[in-house]
Amino acid sequence: MTAQFCIRSNQLETRGEPLSRAGEGFPAPPAATGPARTVRRIALAAPLLLLLPAFAPYAVEGDAIPAPLEGRAGDPARGRAIATDARKGLCTLCHAGLGARPEGDLGPSLAGVGARLSPGQLRLRLVDGRALNPATVMPSYYRIDGLTRVGPAWRDRPILEAAEIEDVVAYLATLRREEEDR
Ligand code: HEC
Repeated sequence: MTAQFCIRSNQLETRGEPLSRAGEGFPAPPAATGPARTVRRIALAAPLLLLLPAFAPYAVEGDAIPAPLEGRAGDPARGRAIATDARKGLCTLCHAGLGARPEGDLGPSLAGVGARLSPGQLRLRLVDGRALNPATVMPSYYRIDGLTRVGPAWRDRPILEAAEIEDVVAYLATLRREEEDR
């Protein structure tokens, strides 16, 4: 599912420690036949199915990811809430221009960014800014491979889910004027 993504990342950097995999550590199920075996198979596959919505493949074209992740349309209001939440998006830690504190200056102001960058360009910067600048301090909000020292709560899952990325992209796209303050 993530083959395309992995190949690209491999070109950029050495992969880190393999992340733990879903299903590892499950005790071997006792032998069963017929319906019991089917039920057990479904039960074992369930955790894997739960992981599916957490990560979807995407295609990079130039400096953009033109297609919305999972084909979703984002909601700007939800995106603003995520971007300005000090525990969720953390964007204001490094960026001004979102009308929320602390208005950090490690990154450029995001005022008017929706006029400077297309939704596809915004998407790639959120998903994996390291594709454009391997030395960037901006977190890759939708990347799970090639990472080391990932806290247990974030293993095997991106910082933001596909729908949340789309919400933030939709919000950033509304920031059209340099002097905007919201
Ligand atoms: C730890 C600091 C940090 C955090 C947190 C951070 N960024 Fe960034 N961001 C940067 C830096 C630095 C850049 C400049 C690009 C580079 O480093 O190559 C950048 C660039 C960008 C750009 C491109 C801007 C342009 O004008 O080219 C966008 C869009 C962006 N960030 C959005 C976000 C959003 C939205 C969030 C929160 C979900 C966020 N950033 C969180 C540091 C950060």
